[in-house]
Amino acid sequence: MKVISIVGARPQLVKLAPIAAAFAQTEHQHVIVHTGQHYDADLSDVFFSGLGIPDPDVHLGVGSGSHGVQTGAVLSALDPILQEQRPDWVLVYGDTNSTIAGALSAVKQHIPVAHLEAGLRSFNRRMPEEHNRVLTDHCADLLLAPTEEAMRHLAKEGLEHRARLAGDVMVDICLRIRDAVLAGEHPAPALPESIDPAQPFLLATLHRPDNTDDPERLAALVQSLAALPLPVALLAHPRLVARAEQHGVKLEQGSVRVGRPLPYAGLVATVMASAGVVTDSGGLQKEAYLLDRACTTVRPETEWVETLEGGWNVLVPDPHSLPASEWAALACRPAPGTARGVPYGDGTAARRVVRLMEEAAGS
Ligand code: UD1
Repeated sequence: MKVISIVGARPQLVKLAPIAAAFAQTEHQHVIVHTGQHYDADLSDVFFSGLGIPDPDVHLGVGSGSHGVQTGAVLSALDPILQEQRPDWVLVYGDTNSTIAGALSAVKQHIPVAHLEAGLRSFNRRMPEEHNRVLTDHCADLLLAPTEEAMRHLAKEGLEHRARLAGDVMVDICLRIRDAVLAGEHPAPALPESIDPAQPFLLATLHRPDNTDDPERLAALVQSLAALPLPVALLAHPRLVARAEQHGVKLEQGSVRVGRPLPYAGLVATVMASAGVVTDSGGLQKEAYLLDRACTTVRPETEWVETLEGGWNVLVPDPHSLPASEWAALACRPAPGTARGVPYGDGTAARRVVRLMEEAAGS
């Protein structure tokens, strides 16, 4: 079986790591195409080197652009590559512009498409990711769902015959790296200056367009972080840095200390060292959950609803509207310590993905 993985953005590289490792244990041919949606070393190269992912076989180098320009550039660059390679499967990941472009290019060429992380829904049609994931699910042939909830969403959309419960490959990689961090196999991460990892601090990230692109919203969010009683290590995504500069919003204020995005092992180590997480990232909500830290999510909804049970994750759409003491108590609350099940699987999802693709291909 020949499989082409199409990736382009940071969260896809994290998911690619366990998938590439699982394919490496088989006779199958696994080809990696990097679209170049993320091109900063902090968001791309360090994930290949840090997670032991083989270098991409093909790099499209599309870079940034409006949604249409970026998606279209990936689509037109992929057409000849898929035509030449003729894989048995194209495997697309998550919900980025690279995902929908990969799925479209493949389906138009009658190449079977498998969608990893199928069935997630925020039901928020303002999110570019929501358009990408719904459209990708509807054109893919094999829907690899991470959770029972995702399976239910797919069934409601009439897609159950193509859906399989695979578990979440992010558990595979997160737990592996957690164990390596505990075993002392990774150097201490580069935290923003003046954050002492031995003292309580919060880890924060913000990058969703709904949080970064409106100047007033961004300014209010940064002020809310700045007013927290614990130091806040804000690991700034390039989108956040660019929008803050454009809107004249100073990120480094009050409790906020700005740092660069971290490689994956550094991020896991920082979550483990932190007193809690404040974020709008999908992946980080789950990493906090898996690493026993309370998470406060600055969004009106989450795709990862399982994290909300028992108060591990709390949604705060608008921190600025809360009384300061209430916001501080929420963001700085300790991990609840309540029992959790294993809604995201047991850390063997990548092997299951390979098996499900073999079955569906009849190989
Ligand atoms: C993308 C995904 C999002 C994912 C996120 C993880 C889409 C629609 N969104 O959002 O689902 O959670 O990646 O990071 O695909 N930029 C750089 N260097 C880079 C990449 C981006 O400076 O290496 C800047 C550019 O100014 C660009 C902006 O960040 O305009 C946004 O990048 P883009 O890839 O469009 O979306 P993300 O916000 O990263």
